[in-house]
Amino acid sequence: MTTHSTPGSIGNAPVIRTALPGPRAKAIIERGQAVVSPSYTRGYPLVMARGSGAMVEDVDGNVFLDCAAGIAVNSTGHSHPDVVRAITGQAEKFLHMSGTDFYYEPQVQLAEELAKVVPIRGGVRAFFGNSGTEAVEACLKLSRYTTGRTNVIAFLGGFHGRSMGSLSLTASKALQRRGFGPMLPGVYHAPYADCYRCPVGLNPESCQAECLRYLEDQIFVHLVSPDEVAAIIVEPIQGEGGYIVAPDQFLQRLRQLTSAHGILLVADEVQSGMGRSGRMFAIEYSGVEPDMVAIAKGVASGMPLGVAAARSGLMAWPPGAHASTFGGNPVSCAAALATLKLLKERLVANAADVGAHLMDGLKGLMAKHRLIGDVRGRGLMVGVELVRDRTTKERAIEERDAVVNEAFSRGLLLLGAGKNAIRFSPPLVITRDQADVAVQIVDESLSVVERSRRP
Ligand SMILES: Cc1ncc(COP(=O)(O)O)c(C=O)c1O
Repeated sequence: MTTHSTPGSIGNAPVIRTALPGPRAKAIIERGQAVVSPSYTRGYPLVMARGSGAMVEDVDGNVFLDCAAGIAVNSTGHSHPDVVRAITGQAEKFLHMSGTDFYYEPQVQLAEELAKVVPIRGGVRAFFGNSGTEAVEACLKLSRYTTGRTNVIAFLGGFHGRSMGSLSLTASKALQRRGFGPMLPGVYHAPYADCYRCPVGLNPESCQAECLRYLEDQIFVHLVSPDEVAAIIVEPIQGEGGYIVAPDQFLQRLRQLTSAHGILLVADEVQSGMGRSGRMFAIEYSGVEPDMVAIAKGVASGMPLGVAAARSGLMAWPPGAHASTFGGNPVSCAAALATLKLLKERLVANAADVGAHLMDGLKGLMAKHRLIGDVRGRGLMVGVELVRDRTTKERAIEERDAVVNEAFSRGLLLLGAGKNAIRFSPPLVITRDQADVAVQIVDESLSVVERSRRP
């Protein structure tokens, strides 16, 4: 837009030089259409060439401010030098020596470091996979194994992955399940605490998580006895579901309920974890201690890694019970160790600080833009829900897509979440000034979309 990047550096502000997609991007997209699975969801045509911090350059030299971070993954920013150094240092020593059959120190060291930050007291063990869905599968299998119970409860709107076990827990979009059934038996879904659209029509200020009554009075009474439930899995902040923040009392009551019935509480922090919420894990805000935590996305700054972290005593399955050839790959472990150090030194605090600033800026747009129904989130996990009418809360689905596209054309990378929310999940290195640029572009984009929709 205004600042120009000097040769070699990407610069700190968006610069759009070509029509989008540019000629090189267009050619690559066309080639991909013939040979790449069409199941991927690409909202707009970004073809990345390189990245630095919170900035991304495409193959035509256009520069974008990144508030998507590869779906909340690039926690330390694109190619943080400390992470790159850790990766290359490890790659020069060895790339792989399956951690399921052999030992190497980076995996042990990472488990030690994670045990210090996972919000479970009295010792934590880590199982390593390569993705969020594998972390969830491991939690699911371990819950069944350790309790000897088969049933599991998840929440409507939740997203836990796309392999068959996790997909059975996922209840985000019907399209994600369509054509893939039957799902795993013994999975039940309860309403989530979406306070903007309260499933039981109450006011969040005076509510004691009444939405959990459906679980207690319906599911436990009519469908499954609580003593046959292995685990309840919950996202402390629903990610794909629309960046919906569960109130503390919802998680606290869930903990009471699970403890009362010997059910394990699994926090899926694949998206909300590793500092994004302004705390290392979002569940910390509620003071609730889960039994297991599923971790992935931001843990290794973009290298594939998934972790199922569990209370030590619970992770007592025998050799051979569960494993993954690539899980806890040494290069990913080295990246995760460098990532954790950066998060602890500065970036969790930066997420809290810049996140509050971003949220203030976005809330400030509400007076000007009737399309904004709700601004919510924690740290740098911020959702803006668009509605056609603030009273009826009619979802502004097309308008949301139009705003995301408009922002792209102005050099801001955003993603949708849920049916009609925009998510802000930038790298945790983003500065207040960059957050201001994001707010300004969203302001302009909303104005364009509102003008175009006016009768
Ligand atoms: C909360 C949550 N759990 C699990 C997953 C699955 O992660 P992956 O795509 O790495 O398998 C995601 C992905 O978006 C997620 O947001």
